[in-house]
Amino acid sequence: MIIAVDGPAAAGKGTIARALAQHFSYHHLDTGTLYRRVGLELLKSDGDIHDSKIAAAIARNLHSYAYLDYELRTEAVGAAASIVASIPEVRSALLDYQRSFAEQEPGAVLDGRDIGTVVCPDADVKLFITASPEVRAKRRLAELQANGADVTFEAVLQDIRQRDDRDQNRAVAPLRPAADAVIIDTSELAADGAIAAAIKAASLAG
Ligand code: DC
Repeated sequence: MIIAVDGPAAAGKGTIARALAQHFSYHHLDTGTLYRRVGLELLKSDGDIHDSKIAAAIARNLHSYAYLDYELRTEAVGAAASIVASIPEVRSALLDYQRSFAEQEPGAVLDGRDIGTVVCPDADVKLFITASPEVRAKRRLAELQANGADVTFEAVLQDIRQRDDRDQNRAVAPLRPAADAVIIDTSELAADGAIAAAIKAASLAG
């Protein structure tokens, strides 16, 4: 059983994917972490973030790089992840790992941008989680401020819009709902409402 959870940054897909995995006792993979790890290594190496050769080499050897969870969650690393994610060689280097993760028994929930369209086009359940850019920026701001970051709403909103633009308009595996995805708009939903809607949709579709 494979559940694909896609959507733009800060729409709530991580919260929903974790809750689905817990509800059905499935494995969970946040695929954004893989791209964030490549971005983080590039930033640490002081290399050119657009250098596709170095980025692909890092992606192919990702298991050999140590990292700390909190390092991955910064806005700088999120932006770097979005840049390296547009490099086709990086995407293909990460594909096998994601596909074998998805094949685990009794099931797996993967969240990202292209799970229902490219990584697991035959997933049993496909959800596309979205919300308005303003709502997403508000949520991301609260998260960043809780971690002590000194950022403004405008800066976070601008970052969200830039990321949407990059993720939706790249040539390879752009962010878009699969034709057979159930769309859940969380703009007006609190976390429990969004989780309940996702569990219902997954139970009906799966
Ligand atoms: O979900 P996130 O914010 O952690 O993702 C960081 C970036 O990684 C995102 O802007 C685009 C990229 N990404 C991707 O291209 N494909 C995925 N399946 C997951 C993330």
